[in-house]
Amino acid sequence: MNIEWGSEGARKFATNVGLTTSNGPHGHNIMATEWTHQLSYEPGLIAVCLRPEHATTANIRKTKVFGANICADNQNVVSSVSGNNSGKEVDKIKMLEGLGVQFYKGKKIDVLMVKDTAANFECKVVKEIELGDHIMFVGEVVHISVTDKEPIVLSQGKYWKLTDSIPKQKDVLEKIEKLVEKHRK
Ligand SMILES: Cc1cc2nc3c(=O)[nH]c(=O)nc-3n(C[C@H](O)[C@H](O)[C@H](O)COP(=O)(O)O)c2cc1C
Repeated sequence: MNIEWGSEGARKFATNVGLTTSNGPHGHNIMATEWTHQLSYEPGLIAVCLRPEHATTANIRKTKVFGANICADNQNVVSSVSGNNSGKEVDKIKMLEGLGVQFYKGKKIDVLMVKDTAANFECKVVKEIELGDHIMFVGEVVHISVTDKEPIVLSQGKYWKLTDSIPKQKDVLEKIEKLVEKHRK
């Protein structure tokens, strides 16, 4: 069966807010990508899942590189702008520069990276997999840049800041320890 876009079930996921930057037939471009996932530590692998019709998809298919920029908690507007306009019709880089957003040239790839995000990963595509209505591009990380900014989360159709972490409950931890011992195989 399908998971309808915007349905109650779909809204229960809490996802990253990735800003995928690319270069290619549509020029330098940026799109919001909630399906940005870390897949492996050694080597560092990151996947972005994109609809086939996006300008970003055509760009990545051509150049085999992309930037995975992890949106910081004061950059939700960058996500909204890049997620609601296509690089086929709008120069989103120029548009965002007009809003004061800064970009820099990738250190290892010919793609613009977003300044002042939580973290930036420059990636070279090692696999392209068709999965349902999306294409998964798996990229090997070739450069990492991290700031002290916090990432934001997308859930229930809204952007969320990470504020309160859930405190550990000592009594529950003790109980878990005892139960692990009791049920050890
Ligand atoms: C917060 C947010 C998250 C999004 N996540 C994804 C995603 O993970 N995959 C996808 O294919 N589209 C996603 N989109 C939609 C694309 O960002 C949007 O269609 C964009 O205009 C594509 O740009 P492009 O044609 O310039 O590549 C998202 C949009 C928003 C606002």
